[in-house]
Amino acid sequence: MDISLQQVEYRYQADTPFERLAIQDVSIDIPSGTYLAIIGHTGSGKSTVLQHLNALLKPTGGKVIIGDREISRNNKEKRLRDIRQKVGIVFQFPEHQLFEETVEKDICFGPMNFGVSEEEAKKRARQAIKQVGLPENILGKSPFDLSGGQMRRAAIAGVLAMEPEVIVLDEPTAGLDPRGRKEIMEMFHRLHRERNLTTVLVTHSMEDAARYADQIVIMHKGNVFKKGSPEEIFSSPEGLIKLGLDVPEIVRFQLKIEQTFQTKLGKTFLSMEELTEAIARLLKRGNPV
Ligand SMILES: Nc1ncnc2c1ncn2[C@@H]1O[C@H](COP(=O)(O)OP(=O)(O)O)[C@@H](O)[C@H]1O
Ligand SMILES: [Mg+2]
Repeated sequence: MDISLQQVEYRYQADTPFERLAIQDVSIDIPSGTYLAIIGHTGSGKSTVLQHLNALLKPTGGKVIIGDREISRNNKEKRLRDIRQKVGIVFQFPEHQLFEETVEKDICFGPMNFGVSEEEAKKRARQAIKQVGLPENILGKSPFDLSGGQMRRAAIAGVLAMEPEVIVLDEPTAGLDPRGRKEIMEMFHRLHRERNLTTVLVTHSMEDAARYADQIVIMHKGNVFKKGSPEEIFSSPEGLIKLGLDVPEIVRFQLKIEQTFQTKLGKTFLSMEELTEAIARLLKRGNPV
């Protein structure tokens, strides 16, 4: 399912004295099967953008196309339920939303709420718990007896059990240790590859964006500052650095090499192997090509 934001503007508490412009003129295309990363400082509008992807927020200007549906200010579109099923959002700290007595009940809650039978919901719970790398016996436990990392995974399983076509992740690794972060990121990458799950990731980590995404959007003060493939985004890292945003270590290393040798390596390298080969050529022949 394709999603497209077209000149989207959103004002919180519109038409009140507390009105606050959060995002404006935001245009982003997310064709089915994409892995998109959204990056930006706190307050740049990332979470506001995400909530438009399943019509939790309705734009106060512009429009959002979700599959064959159009969401805009004056469009009195009802039936938003099927959108919520097709586009699953994993909010920040999703474990805060666990509430049932058992993990199984918690995972089954969403699908059953959408009319899935109890038997089918339980089957989905077993599949989902496996997908997030937890043992099946955890289904019988109270979510509150799990470790932090396990709770995070259980909450993610609840979203997967809805069998969404698009999964939207708002800083899914916040607060996890480095190992937990890597495992969760690898899990989403696997789901993306194996199930062709369209993935939208909000992250602070340029390293994760460079490694996993095929498109990157940089948000700044409610606007899209830059968008493109990782190679396009990092081919001129100076602008990002000026905004105070991180760039991947490997990109900074290439910049340093280029400055030291007063040369250009010809393209932006995001893999250690390719960069090493280019440097080896530079040292052997005096030029990188
Ligand atoms: N519920 C809200 N009410 C009013 N303003 C909000 C609300 N949520 C976010 N904002 C404002 O909208 C802007 C964008 O916020 P947000 O989308 O949460 O950014 P990010 O996710 O990048 O940190 C910020 O200026 C923020 O203060
Ligand atoms: Mg946010």
